[in-house]
Order: sequence, then structure tokens, then C-alpha cells
Amino acid sequence: MSRILTGIQSSGEPHLGNVLGAMLPAIEMSKHNESFFFIADLHALTTIKDGDMLKSNTLKTAAAWLACGLNTETNILYKQSDIPQVTELMWYLNCLTPYPMLANAHSFKDKSKQLSDVNAGLFTYPVLMAADIILYDAEIVPVGKDQIQHLEITRDIANKFNYLFGDTFIIPESKTDTNNMIIPGTDGRKMSKSYNNTINIFANEKLLKKQIMSIVTDSKNLEDTKDPKTCNIFQLYKLIGSESQTQELMTKYQKGGYGYGHAKNALFELILNKYESIRNEFKILVENPRDVEFELEKGAEKAKEVANSVLNKVKANLGLV
Ligand code: ADP
Ligand code: TRP
Repeated sequence: MSRILTGIQSSGEPHLGNVLGAMLPAIEMSKHNESFFFIADLHALTTIKDGDMLKSNTLKTAAAWLACGLNTETNILYKQSDIPQVTELMWYLNCLTPYPMLANAHSFKDKSKQLSDVNAGLFTYPVLMAADIILYDAEIVPVGKDQIQHLEITRDIANKFNYLFGDTFIIPESKTDTNNMIIPGTDGRKMSKSYNNTINIFANEKLLKKQIMSIVTDSKNLEDTKDPKTCNIFQLYKLIGSESQTQELMTKYQKGGYGYGHAKNALFELILNKYESIRNEFKILVENPRDVEFELEKGAEKAKEVANSVLNKVKANLGLV
């Protein structure tokens, strides 16, 4: 049993990519490990500049974790900003982080090309992420491939601290194998809030249908035979459907007389069926935000105990107390 920790930014509404790529595999791991899962609302501030939107995204991200089945009796779910010790630790880590390491980070370089608002928070994003991880003595951090460099930065900073001030932090490891699956979006690229190609499995039926109907396909006619391998609808269907359901759809593609509109409807029905209970649970939670807040407060109490004990050791070793 190890201590695992991971965070998801509340920078948008949770989508199929987050659920299949991050939440469900992490919840599976949480069954055999001690788990810390949090909503990275401080990281989301690097891009979200609207308080109501941030609040709503945070509620929905927490509700998604709970609806997907995270057991909060045996695991810890919390909101990053509820434990301000993380920003204190970040300052100490800032003072050990070489400027070129941040300036050369892929994620910063990509974001600074894409975004018009290139703020200092984006620059120091990996230092806050390092603090998120080592403040809780995390051993394993399940993340997507794009986050591996952030984990390397975390390890560098933690090692440097240990070298200069004595053994203080556990050196964490990233774990990407459960997350290797890249869920394609409606345009065939990686599903991502930033590409506006998401399928929000918790959205109301109207929006969900609209997103599914927007999946890009080639322009074959109804009667033509179709290639499942190159079809975005089929790729998504395959990730969710059972083997026999997938086989059945493949036969329809290969036979012809089955249009992309039919396939989109089949995917819509499949999502509604397969995720009926988590969609219902999500809806109930979002309508009862106090219940979600209660869970987050309970998680913060537990997380704070670990954070305080690690931070006390840090301050003593730095010579601050
Ligand atoms: P987004 O790209 O929509 O902003 P995030 O960066 O907030 O998503 O991702 C949160 C978590 O969900 C990460 O662990 C990430 O690896 C996972 N994730 C996001 N999109 C996908 C996807 N299309 N396929 C697999 N995992 C994904
Ligand atoms: N940067 C991560 C992402 O965008 C989110 C995150 C913030 C995180 N702090 C973390 C992930 C700590 C793992 C551990 O997906």
C-alpha cells in the first residue's frame, strides 16, 4: 500500500477524457492505496478570471469524483485552496527553483504561445504542483503523459531541498500506465477543454446530444460501407461499449446502409445507459452543493493534519523556527 495523490484543475466542466483517463483509473487505484485527491482550484486561477465560473467548476469537479464512486471514508478528497499551507511551502520551494528550469518547461512554453494572458502564475505553476505533492508525503502520482515533466521538476526540487537542509521530503514517482489511454475529442484530437472538443458526460441530455452530433466524420453516404478504424464515433463507442456491442456496430459499418447519424445516436444511447447512475448521482450532488462542501471540508480536515506536520519539519530545517 502506497500513498497516491493526484489533482485535477477546476478550469472547466469535467468531460469523458477526465473521467475515463484520470478519475476512474485513480478511483480503481484508491481501492488498494491510501489516496489523496484534490481539486486544483489555485492552479485554475492561472486561466479562470471569473469567480462564479471557478466556483461552479470546482463544485462540478468535486461532484464528478464523488459520482464516479470515490469512497471518502477511506480516501481524502479536498480543495487545494482549503489548505493554504501549500502556498507557504511554494514560496520556500520557489527560492530553490532555478529560473531556467521553469523557463524551459514544455507546458509553460506551449501555454505561453497559446494564451494571451501569460502571467507569473503560469510560470511558477510547476512549483505549486511540487508543493501539492511533497506537502502530503505522496509516493505515487498518477498523471497523464503531459505531466511527467512536472513530476521531474518536483523530484529535482525535493532532492535539492533534502540535500541542502537534510532529509525532509519523500521523493515521489509518477505513474502514467493507467493513464496512457488518450480519449479522442469530437474532432479526433485529444479531448481537452482547451480544444473545445469535449463530451461532457454529466451535461444535460440536450447539450450531450449536441456535442455528440458535432463529432466530425468523413462525408460518406448512408448506403456506403464505412471504416470503423478511421471513424471518431466508432473510436469513442469502442472505449465505452462492451465487446459484443462494439462488434455489432462494426458489422453495421462494414455492411453499409448505416449512417453516421445512426452511429451518433447509438453512442448517445450508450452513454446515457452506461453512465445513467453516475449522471443521476452527479445531478443530485450539484443540486445539493452543501453535501459536496461537507465532503470537501471533511477531506480538508484530514489533509491539514499531514500538511501541518510536514510544514513544521520544513520550517525547522530551513531555520525559520
Ligand atoms: P483538459 O485537457 O481538458 O484541460 P486536464 O488537463 O484538466 O484536462 O486533465 C485532467 C486529468 O484528465 C489529467 O490527469 C489528464 O491526463 C486527464 N485527461 C484529460 N483529457 C484526457 C484525454 N483526452 N484522454 C485521457 N486523459 C485525459
Ligand atoms: N497539473 C495537473 C494537470 O493539469 C493538475 C495538478 C495540479 C496535479 N497539482 C497536481 C496533478 C499534483 C497531480 C499532482 O492535469
